[in-house]
Amino acid sequence: MEPDFWRQRWREGRIGFHRAEVLPSLVRYWPTLALPAGSTVFVPLCGKSRDMAWLAAQGHRVVGVELVGSALQAFFEAEGLSPESDTLATAGGSLVRHRAGPYTLFEGDLFDLDAAMLGDVAAIYDRAALIALPPDLRRRYVAHLDRIAPKASQLLVCLEYGEGEHEGPPFSVDAVEVVTLYGEARVHPLARQVLPKDDGPGGVSVLTEAVYRIAAPNIAD
Ligand SMILES: C[S@@+](CC[C@H](N)C(=O)[O-])C[C@H]1O[C@@H](n2cnc3c(N)ncnc32)[C@H](O)[C@@H]1O
Repeated sequence: MEPDFWRQRWREGRIGFHRAEVLPSLVRYWPTLALPAGSTVFVPLCGKSRDMAWLAAQGHRVVGVELVGSALQAFFEAEGLSPESDTLATAGGSLVRHRAGPYTLFEGDLFDLDAAMLGDVAAIYDRAALIALPPDLRRRYVAHLDRIAPKASQLLVCLEYGEGEHEGPPFSVDAVEVVTLYGEARVHPLARQVLPKDDGPGGVSVLTEAVYRIAAPNIAD
């Protein structure tokens, strides 16, 4: 999707993907990653997700990246925090880094973020990030995550629905594609459940949430 697509959605308040509550599957399956408290979690395409506040409440430092600055502003406001901000030059342009409390949230394009800016990341939390990207970008997204967070395991939450029932985003990404993207040795399916239709895009007959633990690159367990 072009950046303008997302900017327009935020501007017009068409953010049906945003949940007022923490995702139940995060609370349920995060412990399977068995991370030490104090470790850093990366949340790509973070929006203003309340899940970041839950991760911070578990004792994690949280690093996010989001194209749309107003989303990050709204997150900090909800947390009662006033971030300090600076601009970092990147090969493709620049990213604005907002820091407050346990959060470092980058405003800009994920693909401009490099390993040095991100720092040492123990885990990635992907909810509505991979499935927000069209097919050609998903492979690039996974390769980029592996490059910038090479030691990170991951909790990945995907949605599935019938082919042709919705244009996307969110796109339907099934287990076969997850295995193709991450490699069989890294993918550990944790759960599947049918969601109420209101939890997803309209016009879909059955909406399924699938949760995976993804082992860090080169670490099959
Ligand atoms: C479907 S939303 C999910 C947001 C969040 N993960 C959640 O669960 O609420 C996808 C978000 O990714 C952002 N986004 C899309 N492409 C991006 C990119 N290349 N770099 C950074 N953010 C991006 C959009 O602005 C949007 O807020």
